[in-house]
This record gives sequence, structure tokens and C-alpha cells, in this order.
Amino acid sequence: MKVCIVGASGKLGQYMIQQALDRGYEVVGVCRARSVDKLAAFHGRITIMPGDANDRVVIQRAVAGCDGVLTVLVPWGMNHHSSGTAQAVLDFAPPGARLIFSCGWHITRDGLDTYSPAFLRMVRVMGGLARILRLGQIDDQVEACRRIFASNTRWTVVRGSDLEEGESQGLPVWSRRVGDPLLASNRTRRIDFALFMVAALENDQLVHEAPAIVGCQTPSALAHGGAL
Ligand SMILES: NC(=O)c1ccc[n+]([C@@H]2O[C@H](COP(=O)([O-])OP(=O)(O)OC[C@H]3O[C@@H](n4cnc5c(N)ncnc54)[C@H](OP(=O)(O)O)[C@@H]3O)[C@@H](O)[C@H]2O)c1
Repeated sequence: MKVCIVGASGKLGQYMIQQALDRGYEVVGVCRARSVDKLAAFHGRITIMPGDANDRVVIQRAVAGCDGVLTVLVPWGMNHHSSGTAQAVLDFAPPGARLIFSCGWHITRDGLDTYSPAFLRMVRVMGGLARILRLGQIDDQVEACRRIFASNTRWTVVRGSDLEEGESQGLPVWSRRVGDPLLASNRTRRIDFALFMVAALENDQLVHEAPAIVGCQTPSALAHGGAL
């Protein structure tokens, strides 16, 4: 299996590279030119394509011949980074490739998720601050996911809870709806977010799903059992 990781130099991206290599996959990583050094530990073991993730030429070259594309959808920057990245991946990934995208619980596919007032307040405040300080556009990540949900590619959008560092606890459990008591702990190890993304490449049950995930060892997961 040959996979492309878009956003390879970030924390999630680097975990995904290692896990893809552990599975014996051939890996192509896309990251900004100034971040190539962050991937020094992988030099010689992966192909690195320097460039912006929303540069359509870069993405077209990077995803050529790939069986799967793992895309870190980040709302950073004011140049429609998320929607540009998602659109390029949707347009240029080979037909039939598994496309796995990361985002957070704030993304809703069908409006049937239930959010606490505190969560909605946090998203409003963070989104507003990012916009005012010209750091990022949460709305653009929403637009990116709208396009993914509308596409007829073999997509999965993995919606992460709050993240923490630490050793792997195993594959997160998931629900179709934020608000499910299973997710109440709202905590996932970042390494396990990556594990879920990479495992989704070979899990056809997740095609056209937007799983909201939580750590499998969290109290709410242990109390309620999971869908995976
Ligand atoms: N952090 C959380 O608590 C949390 C919670 C739920 C879901 N998520 C989801 O997890 C994913 C990544 O989360 P993470 O916190 O682990 O981040 P991360 O892996 O550190 O990734 C950050 C990525 O964003 C890129 N980036 C940063 N600023 C940028 C800019 N101005 N323009 C373009 N690219 C930029 C970085 O590239 P460089 O290496 O070049 O800087 C890197 O690839 C996202 O999909 C996010 O929605 C995060």
C-alpha cells in the first residue's frame, strides 16, 4: 500500500508516518518547505514533497499512484488552507483511493450532534480569536468538510476529541454522534488519533462515516463500550 500524508510535519502527521511505516506502507509526506527538517528522523525512509498543502500542483504530484491519502485538516492561515487542501485531495487522488481526513468534534455532518453550552462557547471564542488575530479560519475547516461529505470519493472524516500526549492506549472507540455518553470523557491520546486514522485506511466500514472518537481507556469508553 502506498499512502500520502498531507500535513506530515505536524504532531499528528509524524505519528501517522511512523504507524504507516510500521505497517509496511510506502509513504509520501507533504509539508511546508520550512518544515522539512521536522521530518529528519524519517529521511531516507519516506518521500518528502515540500510545498503548501493547498497547492494543487504539489498535491497532484504527491497523491499520484496512492492507495490512500491521510490529510490533516487544519484551520490555520487566512488563505482557505483547509478547503483548498481538501479540494485538491478530492480532485487528484486516484479513483477508489481511501481518503481519511482529520478534524475535531465541532464539525457536524448532519446537524444531529449534541454539544454542551461550554463546548459551543469554546468553539465560538477560539474561532473568533483566530479570525481577529488572523491566525486561522474555523469556518474554512467547516467548508472543507462540507465538500468532503458531498463528494462521491471513499472518504472518512475522523473527528477528534480534546487531545493529550502519552503512550498508546489502543484504538479509540467511536460514535456517529457527539453527545453520545460514550464520548463524555472527551480525551484521546494524539498517538491513538493517528492510529485510528491509519487503521481507517483498511476499514471499509468507515467509508462515508464521520466517527467522533474518544480514548478506549477513558472512563466513558469503559462505561459504555464502543462501536469498534
Ligand atoms: N489540538 C487539539 O486539541 C485537537 C482536538 C481535536 C481535533 N484536532 C484535529 O487534529 C488535527 C491536527 O491537530 P494537532 O494539534 O495534532 O496539530 P499538528 O499535528 O501539530 O498539525 C499542525 C499542522 O498544521 C500545519 N500548520 C500550522 N500552521 C499552518 C499555517 N499557517 N498554514 C498551513 N499549515 C499550517 C503544520 O505544518 P508545519 O509543520 O509546517 O507548521 C502541521 O502540519 C487537526 O485536524 C485538528 O482539527 C486537534
